[in-house]
Amino acid sequence: MIYAITHLAYFAAMILFIFSLHWMNDPKTARRAVYAGAGAMLVAILATWFQPQIIHHGWIILAIVLGTIVGIPLSRVPLTAVPQRTALSHAFGGVAAGLVGTAKYFLWLGEGPENLTPFRMIAIIAEIILGFLTFTGSLMAAGKLQEVRWIPQRPVTFPFQNIVNIGLLVVAAGLGTLLVFMPAEPWSGAVFLVIVALSLLFGVLFIIPIGGADMPTVISILNSYAGLSAVAMGFVLDNKLLIIAGALDGSSGLILSIIMCKAMNRSFTNVLFGAFGKVQHAAAGGEQRVYKQETTEGAAQILEQANLVVVIPGYGMAVAQAQHRIRELYDQLTKRGITVKFAIHPVAGRMPGHMNVLLAEADIPYSALAEMDEINPDMPQCDVALVVGANDVVNPAARYDKSTPIYGMPIIDADRAKMVLAIKRSKNPGFAGIENELYFKDNTYMLFGDAKAVIGDLVKQFASSGVAVH
Ligand code: TAP
Repeated sequence: MIYAITHLAYFAAMILFIFSLHWMNDPKTARRAVYAGAGAMLVAILATWFQPQIIHHGWIILAIVLGTIVGIPLSRVPLTAVPQRTALSHAFGGVAAGLVGTAKYFLWLGEGPENLTPFRMIAIIAEIILGFLTFTGSLMAAGKLQEVRWIPQRPVTFPFQNIVNIGLLVVAAGLGTLLVFMPAEPWSGAVFLVIVALSLLFGVLFIIPIGGADMPTVISILNSYAGLSAVAMGFVLDNKLLIIAGALDGSSGLILSIIMCKAMNRSFTNVLFGAFGKVQHAAAGGEQRVYKQETTEGAAQILEQANLVVVIPGYGMAVAQAQHRIRELYDQLTKRGITVKFAIHPVAGRMPGHMNVLLAEADIPYSALAEMDEINPDMPQCDVALVVGANDVVNPAARYDKSTPIYGMPIIDADRAKMVLAIKRSKNPGFAGIENELYFKDNTYMLFGDAKAVIGDLVKQFASSGVAVH
């Protein structure tokens, strides 16, 4: 009876997981997707907990209490820190899979070598290699994104790095193969621990040559590794739901990585082995380049003359939390008959969909949002491109300058607009660490300051009868 109920519950959880992923496809159903995913997880935990072979409930309660203590503050991080928070979750998933694999190996070893069948050993080896490399790799990725002082943001490279890294993995896999055939020799336990150490080391070495700008792609690749280690764990524990949920996790992580690689016009191998961001621009002979600046009064007059304004938000909008002021500006402009569009670059900000989430929070209508491919053909007709804390995603160097780390990344063609107003706080570069040609163009005017404050001032210009309604 309990067996049938468990299977029914697992089946329900599986359906909910699949629908959860499907509903994630659209912002309108995304909230439902979160509830479905969390509900599925709850059903899965309860169905597993009520298994008769589970007798030590105290440990499970302790784990739930500890998880809740860690989980609540983690759920409260600002939106800008969600990528590193996600990386931490993958690290926890990876280490959990790795530890379960380790515990199962030593448990079965103690119970008698006949337990360590080749099938189980293959699953355990896959689980620990993927789990432990995901653990340290994700911790490194989270540290890079959080800009932790002792983890360098820039790619750290050394001679024969790729050979060393692949060599480590080959040695780990080779030792794993040895254990599949000789799982219970006197030295097998020590070899097992060597594989664990090599996997942990590989996770670190795999991430250090990758620059911060590639972290989102790397995080979703690690997501798929965490999923695959969960699949292996499912085989070790003979748990079908774990196999299915792990496969969903693994494949969705992989698909997201592919989408992001396409958005940046990079190949997978280039992201993983290309040491993105390695080549940095030398300052052009120390020559000081001059920005043209505009006041908010002047900018309001320029905007007022426009027929089509394209707002291009970037990471700076998220930092400044300027989305609500942008909504007010949108209202002021549309009230004056000006068409306002929002150009969304797929990797603007620090996580997929970052700009969409913020603009939705400020109730900007979906119909005003345009994807990069949709808006670019209209950019030559755009009277004013209003760049709000975006940098790399509007840097024209991506089109022609092979020495820049963003070369080949499709950009929003702000430079093709009739005029550009760019809001940022300083002359600092964007995430990829390179100067932006756009800011020095003849028709570009800088509005230096915090995006929320500058847009707020612009709104005031329109609200105080300074700028007329047509
Ligand atoms: P960035 O290139 O990071 O540029 C953001 C700009 O915003 C900076 O130049 C900064 O200049 C400005 N800024 C920061 N705080 C501000 C504030 N309070 N007010 C006004 N301006 C502010 O942003 P982007 O154009 O959105 O490009 C995203 C980059 O991040 C890409 O290289 C992408 O590959 C990478 N990345 C993306 C993701 C995802 S999935 N979206 C995740 C990680 C990394 P000041 O300091 O001078 O103000």
